[in-house]
Amino acid sequence: MLINHASLLSLTDRLRRKLSYMSVSNHRRKLICSPILLENNLVTASEMAMLQAFLSSYDHNTYEHAYRIAGTALEVAYSLDLTEEDAGLIYLSALLHDIGKAAIPSAILQKRGPLDEGEQQVMRLHPQIGQHMLAQAGGVFSRLADIVVAHHERWDGQGYPFGLAGEDIPLAGRILAVVDSFDAMTSERAYQEPQSMAVAYAEVERCAGSQYDPRVVAAFLSACDTRTVVNTGLIAAPFGPWLARTNVSALSA
Ligand SMILES: [Fe+2]
Repeated sequence: MLINHASLLSLTDRLRRKLSYMSVSNHRRKLICSPILLENNLVTASEMAMLQAFLSSYDHNTYEHAYRIAGTALEVAYSLDLTEEDAGLIYLSALLHDIGKAAIPSAILQKRGPLDEGEQQVMRLHPQIGQHMLAQAGGVFSRLADIVVAHHERWDGQGYPFGLAGEDIPLAGRILAVVDSFDAMTSERAYQEPQSMAVAYAEVERCAGSQYDPRVVAAFLSACDTRTVVNTGLIAAPFGPWLARTNVSALSA
């Protein structure tokens, strides 16, 4: 399904307006009260404000999911020996990978039970909506747009929105695909019981070469082997270990 550019523009404007008036709940306040990040110039004030505005559009479950997979994506990036800059971009992309869902009606997002075909079509717009929002945001966020739009592509070309295959999919998108699916399998959902870690690992391994990039799967399994805590529901410290030693604002230069 093609997205009408003009309607997306107005959608983004409406969302920005809505976000500026949105009340701040406790877990979001934790982010806003992270002076250490600003005092150490880890992110610029304007980038921090934009990131907080984006994250504030999440419901609590989406927020927790995003933080969990951001930590795991970072581990996979390190396991693949990516540069600090690329690892940082992947971390931020993971935090914002589902930002396009902010524009999906809650009746669809929170539906208990499987989506019908029409609802699936609407839901499948979220990668492109997210891409558009990030591109519009500019700075470091515009560098995340082409990663975020690719997080539901599949190695075998059967994914969406573009049906890209293999290395035509950005590596960061291939990483997000693995960690996102793993977390979805092992998390409590409105309509499904969480699967055990063992079952989820086996499923990821089974789909290497079809749904997922085999190299990324190997890195994921290796990263999980070395982690003491995987997907326990603990939320990583805001902005995670990468931001503790990297100047994010430099990434947008
Ligand atoms: Fe998604």
